[in-house]
Amino acid sequence: MRSHATPASVRVRAAAKVNLHLGVGAAREDGFHPLTTVYQAIGLFDDVTVERSDVDRLELHGESWVETSSIPLDATNLAARAAALLSAHHGRPLPSSVSIRKAIPVAGGLAGGSADGAATLVGIDRAWGLETPDEVLLEMAADLGSDVPFALIGGTALGTGRGELVDPIADEATWWWVAVPNRVGLSTPQVYGHFDRLFPDADPVPPSADALIEAVVSGEPVRLARTLHNDLQAPAVDLRPELGELIDQGEAAGALRGLISGSGPTVVFLCDGADGAREVAAELGGAGHDVVLVANGPVAGAHVVHGLAGLGEGGVDG
Ligand code: C5P
Repeated sequence: MRSHATPASVRVRAAAKVNLHLGVGAAREDGFHPLTTVYQAIGLFDDVTVERSDVDRLELHGESWVETSSIPLDATNLAARAAALLSAHHGRPLPSSVSIRKAIPVAGGLAGGSADGAATLVGIDRAWGLETPDEVLLEMAADLGSDVPFALIGGTALGTGRGELVDPIADEATWWWVAVPNRVGLSTPQVYGHFDRLFPDADPVPPSADALIEAVVSGEPVRLARTLHNDLQAPAVDLRPELGELIDQGEAAGALRGLISGSGPTVVFLCDGADGAREVAAELGGAGHDVVLVANGPVAGAHVVHGLAGLGEGGVDG
């Protein structure tokens, strides 16, 4: 009787990520870089609403700080590709109207596009009552992009391979972040390319995340701050020197540590609790940064927040 409970419309929420550790090895034969990374999903969300429809439709709205003009609305959009993968797997058309409300900055190193891809997989699956197994959704997610499987599982997780192989890490703490996005995005391939130029002799084996994982388990912010690590920070700051100044500014304002999120240009600051984060955010806002966001983590992966016919909470639990 599942079909009677299948809602015509579902809203799925997917979170931004930060990389607490981003260890990058020398490029593989396929051009991708082997990673040892630790992802954390933080409370900054895109919402994707999916409705069964007669034709495919894709629309996009951004919050005031999100510049959406560079996002393609054609078949190359990650949401459209997610729909095509599900349709091919189930061997039938699944015409859907997909509406994306973006709060995660675009090309910011926060995996906003990956969040939309993951949310669309879950949304179409639930709207059409497909009951696609979690392993299949995770494989489709890996096809869509290196960060998309993590966007499905959320929480805090170790990522290996090119980032697509994810294992949850037990993280009982609540960590407080301030994120300062940049109006002008950075291209991920460009930052990886600059890494190759800066580090032509990089080890093929990426730096281990062991110390960082121990710090996560300890729950101590000062210890986590000491072990945060991003191998893409040097190339990102070399391409955008003002990001180095922003990191210094946030640390002077009381952040425990600032670092580039993923391939940048968003800078994230680990802070001492909610009050510490609000103080750092207020100081950076007062210093002229027009968009300063406060978020905590870890939060859940892509999950249903609203289904018109009352289907319960969904999502992939990893
Ligand atoms: O997997 P995704 O589509 O997100 O990757 C975008 C680009 O980022 C790749 O085409 C590649 O240039 C770079 N990349 C990489 N190594 C990774 C992940 C991404 O070189 N592990």
